[in-house]
Parts: sequence; C-alpha cells; structure tokens
Amino acid sequence: MCGIVGYLGEKNTKEILLDGLKELEYRGYDSAGIAVLQNGEFSNYKAIGKLVNLEEKTKDFITKGFAVGIGHTRWATHGKPTELNAHPHLGESSYVVHNGIIENYAELKKELIADDVCFLSQTDTEVIVHQFEKNLKFSTNAFEAFNKTINELDGAYAILLTTKSEPQTIFFAKRGSPMLFGVNNEGEKYFASSDTPLIGHAKEVNYFEDGDYGYVSKNEIVILDKNSKQIKPIYIELSKNKLSAQKDGYRFFMEKEIYEQSAVILDTLMGRLSDDEIIFDELDNNIFEGINEIKLCACGTSYHSALSASYLFERYAKIRTSVEIASEFRYREPIMEKDTLFIVISQSGETADTLETLKMAKNAGLKTLVICNVDNSSMVRLADATILTRAGIEKGVASTKAFATQVTIFWMMSLYIAKIKNSLKSEEITRQISLLREIPASLKVSNEMHEKLKRLSKRYLHGHGFFFIGRDIFYPLALEGALKLKEISYLHAEGYPSGEMKHGPIALADPELFTIALLPEHLHYEKSKSNVEELSARDSTICAISSKEFDKADDFISISKCTDYMLEFFEMMVVVQLLSLEISIRLGNDVDMPRNLAKSVTVE
Ligand code: F6R
Repeated sequence: MCGIVGYLGEKNTKEILLDGLKELEYRGYDSAGIAVLQNGEFSNYKAIGKLVNLEEKTKDFITKGFAVGIGHTRWATHGKPTELNAHPHLGESSYVVHNGIIENYAELKKELIADDVCFLSQTDTEVIVHQFEKNLKFSTNAFEAFNKTINELDGAYAILLTTKSEPQTIFFAKRGSPMLFGVNNEGEKYFASSDTPLIGHAKEVNYFEDGDYGYVSKNEIVILDKNSKQIKPIYIELSKNKLSAQKDGYRFFMEKEIYEQSAVILDTLMGRLSDDEIIFDELDNNIFEGINEIKLCACGTSYHSALSASYLFERYAKIRTSVEIASEFRYREPIMEKDTLFIVISQSGETADTLETLKMAKNAGLKTLVICNVDNSSMVRLADATILTRAGIEKGVASTKAFATQVTIFWMMSLYIAKIKNSLKSEEITRQISLLREIPASLKVSNEMHEKLKRLSKRYLHGHGFFFIGRDIFYPLALEGALKLKEISYLHAEGYPSGEMKHGPIALADPELFTIALLPEHLHYEKSKSNVEELSARDSTICAISSKEFDKADDFISISKCTDYMLEFFEMMVVVQLLSLEISIRLGNDVDMPRNLAKSVTVE
C-alpha cells in the first residue's frame, strides 16, 4: 500500500522524509522516492526495493536551511515496480506524489499526448503533474492551476504537489485516500498519509476530510472544503504511541485488516477488469496451452482459498482441479504430469512446505504459477508466473484480507480460463464481471452488524465445541471460519460439509455443541437447511448466517440480500471473521499474536 510524506521547514529535510517513509514501511511497498525543492532547485531520488536503496542513493545529498520536500512509498498497481514508475513524478518544473487511483487517467493522458506531452511512466499519477503544468500556462497563479487540475480528476486520491513557480509551497488535495497535516511550535509543517511519520515531530494534527484541498507555505495554511469554502484546521493532539497509531484507532491489526478488505479488493481488481473479460497482464497468453488439469497446493488459510478455487474452476472453467495440503503432498510421492498447471498459494511467499512443493513441480517440468501477496518473496522468484493479490501488508497472524484477495483472484481466474476455453457464454462472463465489482460493497462492515456480533459473542465463550458447516464453496468457508476461531480463541472448532454431519459428528449434538450454519440463499439453500434442521432437532445450539429468515436457529445473523452466491460468500466471510474476533477479545486473548503461532512458517 502506498504512503505519502511531506515537509516544509528548516531542519534536515532529507532525513525527515526518509524517516517518515520508514514509518510507513509496514504498509508494504516496492519502490520509493523523494523530491526536495531548495533555493529554487529540485533534487529527486528514486529507488526500487527497500528504503536502504534510497538511503544509499541519497547518502551524499545534503539539505540545509529552508526546504520543501515530498516523499512516497509505492505499491505497484498501474505499471511494474520500476524507478520510472516510482513517485515523485516530474513535469517540466513540478513534482507530484499520489495515493489512490485516477480513474480517467487514460483519457487525460491521450489528450496530453496529443499536446506533445512526453510521459516517462506507466502510472496514472503522472497525468496529474502534466495536467497541472498545462493548466498553469493559462492560470494567474499555481493554486488556480492546481484547483483546475483536481476538478478534472475522477477517482480517489491524496495528492501533494510542489512546483518551482511557488518554491515555498506544497499544494494538497484529498478525496477517498487518507491524509493529515501537522504543525509544531518551531513553525515546521508536515504531511503524511497516516499518523506514524508525524509522531515525535508534529505536536498537533488536522485530518483532512474528503474534498479538502489547498496549500501550505512558509507563512500560510489555506484549506478549502469540498464546497470551496475556506475552513480553519481542526487540530487535535497527536498520539505518542506508534503502534497504536499504526492501528488507526482499531483495537487490533486483525480488526483493522477485516475493515480494510473492501478497500484492498479494489486494488486486487484494479486494471484487471474490462466489461467483458478479465485482464491478467502478468500471465503469458500461452500459460494454459496444453493444460488439462490444475493442481493447487498450499497451507492453512491459503489452502482454504485453494479449495474454493476448485469449485469455481470446475464449475466455470470446466477444468479438472485438485487441491493438496503442501505438507502432505511433499512426502507422498505424487504423480506429476506435464499437462498439469501447478499453482501454489501463499500470503507470505515463504512458507517452507509450500515452497518445497513448488520446487518439486519445477523439477518435474510442470508449468508453475504462484498467487502471492509479497512481491520478490521466494515463491515469486521461483515460479514461472505470478499473480499478486495486492492485500497490502497483513500484520495480524490470523489471515483475513489475504484470504479475501485470494478468493477474488480465483474467481477472476475461473472466468479468465472460461473465456480461453469457451466454457461460459460471454453474457455470463459479463454478468460475473459486474458481480466482481460488487465485492467491495459486500465487504463493507456495518456498525450495526459489528455491534450485533459483539453482543452475540458473549453467548459463545464455552461449550464443548463449534461446528462451522456449509455446502459447496461454503464448505471451504466453513473450514476457514473454524480455523479463525480456533487459532485466536483457543476453543475447539471444526469446519464440516453440512451433508456429512449425519455420517458421524451429529453424535456430538447437544445444547453445548455450537453449530455456525452458513445458509446462502443462492446455492443449495433447501439442502443446507435440512442439514441444519437435523442438528436443531438434536438440540445443538444453532447460529445461522443467511439473508433468509430461519426460525429453527437459536441465533440468526442476517446478511444483505445479494444477487449471487459469491457475494453471499464474501458477506458471510466478514461475519465469521468478526465473530471469531469478538469471542476471542471477550476471552482476553491477544488476537494479533495468538499463542504458538507465527506469521510466516519457514520451518517444516
Ligand atoms: C491462518 C494462517 C495460516 C497461513 C498458513 C500459510 O490464519 O494465517 O494458516 O494461511 O500458515 O501461510 P502462507 O499463506 O503465508 O503460505
């Protein structure tokens, strides 16, 4: 996830920008850069990879006296992680940094190219600086040009812009992406996309609202709201605790990451959907040539997303698909044939068991693909092809947003393969693409839902066990729900196929057995309902999750009415994540660091 810093003041501008960027490292990035305007001249440095590379490049660069600086860490979306694509982006005499997406960048770029503007990067951001310079030619001052420019942008943004025509000023605008501004008693002024870079520097901060824009110079702070009315900054004292600032007000990283899911899916989808097809620029057209089978291999939560893929791949892409637990696969002398595409799934890209299976597949001469959240990880370096999930850094040990992005990628892949194999009608692909665009809305956490789950959680702190049950693709979701609960609450939980309960586990049914029943309206509803009724008849305590009223449940969690079972999948996923979180918080557990678990399992 991208990060922004900005500074106006007399102190060592370079160090302040680099320190600020370091505080944003935890969000994940693949390149970084700074631009400093001092004595009317710009100095600009960019580097791919970690910040040490940027530090190395700037080691002989010295800033002294008053300067204006902007900096950025970039998590690649439009265009690869290269130096040219790293921010800040340069026009003729101005630099810009930006978080978010400029949705109409292609149109603006076309017009600018027609005016002979030369673009250096593949990013959407670069249009901002060129559009600003175009407007500057017809404006009475830089602020007028900046104002015109932001009015021409569609999409979400947090922007900082500096220009030689106003060498002691930073122009800013915020819509949809977070940004704040801070001051101290020494007259220094700071910008950042989250609190942490400002801790220890700024005394008090103003959080910009959507639509705010303006400029800050040595002697002036001008903020206008979305109606272009000048407003006074509302300063609040800045927290002194860096860790709590990184949590942005949430109690745990896991909670923050559950809430972030809606936004990260936008990143996962970005640039990958057209009206009638899925675009994976990162895949060679011929990757599926000669492939008759797909084998997916992973551990834990990533294994559960692989299981969901198997339903989607066989249903939509009509391709034989099998799923393997990596730690099992590596020792069971499996048959590996060259017409199989071998896909590994990993949030970290470092899990030892999964990495080993990737090596085995490569040695056997299979085509390999990794679905991963961490660029440059061991699996990404090894596999023939990579699709990045773009979930941003996941800090909570219990995986949430990584799972959401993995399932989204698999849904997209099933349509991508369906198109190649002609296994779905084009109208159906178009319909499903429009459903994909609805995932972010399905993942939004409503206050009402969260409050309900908080209240409900107190009834589920004991008992002799939980069964999460579901059919079809809701079975992997049941497995995932049970895994979330057991790893952070330390209560016993199992995921089970609803129809399988009567073949044994139903013997456990009594009021102290808690059944969390996933009842999607749009997939095998009647069948799943009968299975839950069988448990209810044996006095198991039932908590049903559905958009359809269900009177046999002790507790009922109502999700929104959806038009498709996949949207119900995402709605229910949020519910099981939050329920596990709230039960575990009530039990007094540290949900971010559950006992005995590590975020990246690099041992066998
Ligand atoms: C559970 C969890 C683990 C991981 C597993 C694989 O919440 O996070 O089960 O999913 O250790 O890790 P990755 O995906 O990094 O290979």
